[in-house]
Amino acid sequence: MTAPTLDIHLSDDDLTAALRSDARLGLTANPKWLPPKWFYDARGSELFERITELPEYYPTRTERALLERVVGEIARAAQAEVLVELGAGSAAKTRLLLTALTTHAPLKTYVPQDVSAAALRAAADAVAAEFPGLAVHGVVSDFTDTLHNLPRGGRRMIAFLGGTIGNLVPDERAEFLTSIRDVLEPGEQLLLGAGLVIDPAVLVPAYDDAAGITAEFNRNVLHVLNSRLDADFAPEKFRHIAIWDSAHEWIEMRLEATEDMTVTVRALDLTVRFARGEQMRTEISAKFLIEGLSAELTIAGFGTEHVWTDPDDRFALVLARRR
Ligand code: AVJ
Repeated sequence: MTAPTLDIHLSDDDLTAALRSDARLGLTANPKWLPPKWFYDARGSELFERITELPEYYPTRTERALLERVVGEIARAAQAEVLVELGAGSAAKTRLLLTALTTHAPLKTYVPQDVSAAALRAAADAVAAEFPGLAVHGVVSDFTDTLHNLPRGGRRMIAFLGGTIGNLVPDERAEFLTSIRDVLEPGEQLLLGAGLVIDPAVLVPAYDDAAGITAEFNRNVLHVLNSRLDADFAPEKFRHIAIWDSAHEWIEMRLEATEDMTVTVRALDLTVRFARGEQMRTEISAKFLIEGLSAELTIAGFGTEHVWTDPDDRFALVLARRR
């Protein structure tokens, strides 16, 4: 076994600079908003892991069961030599893919990408130990703007699973899919996991669970601002809201101020006022119709090769080929 290599294209300073700029932009906007990527410090990642085990949160287990069922077909169709996994958090999914691609395809290299160097190193070491024949080449970067840093050589498949594509608004999504298309060679593939539009009676509780874990996850972005930017938010004074926006076909998470508040963000030299009842958007999680997703892929320069869905049509895996 060869030791995994790790390319670092994103330092802690880069992350803080990005957070500063996002926080200033979002907290001075009307209405206020914050991007969802800042949920995930160590505590936020742990809260997300707990969300994936909640009875109401169907996406993770649905995608995993679907992947389990069709991963052999995916591997045979893809014939990848290199697997690039964007946001390589979930070890369980990675193992399924790697096992199938080393059995049914000529896989030689695994390239996990993540923003967290610590998480990536641990994941890369574990995979290298478990798949001794595989070269493991980790990339620490922000998936939305560092795609060009991915190593080249060998027929690649880029996997972007978990439904995280839904965190992007349509314009960002188009730009993101186009940038993936631009780094791929003709014939190379994208494996996309996406949540589907379903009954709001099932969808909403997945983002507003009875145990309140999602509420805590949502408020975690305020803890992150407190610790990274020396802010003085009182997270418990914000109420978690999850609503289904049927016009945009997305779940929207917000934090609502339960009283008038003045918050100081010392690192930004910024004072922010919240009125009681004011709502701040913290995440969108878009859900898709297969035809719509396929049309977006076409516009970005991909052909949809195959779509697999679970028996309840809640989640889809789409294999698309760069034209
Ligand atoms: C990790 C982005 C796929 O949108 O379902 C879970 C994040 N937010 N509960 C999702 C999330 C609230 C999750 N993704």
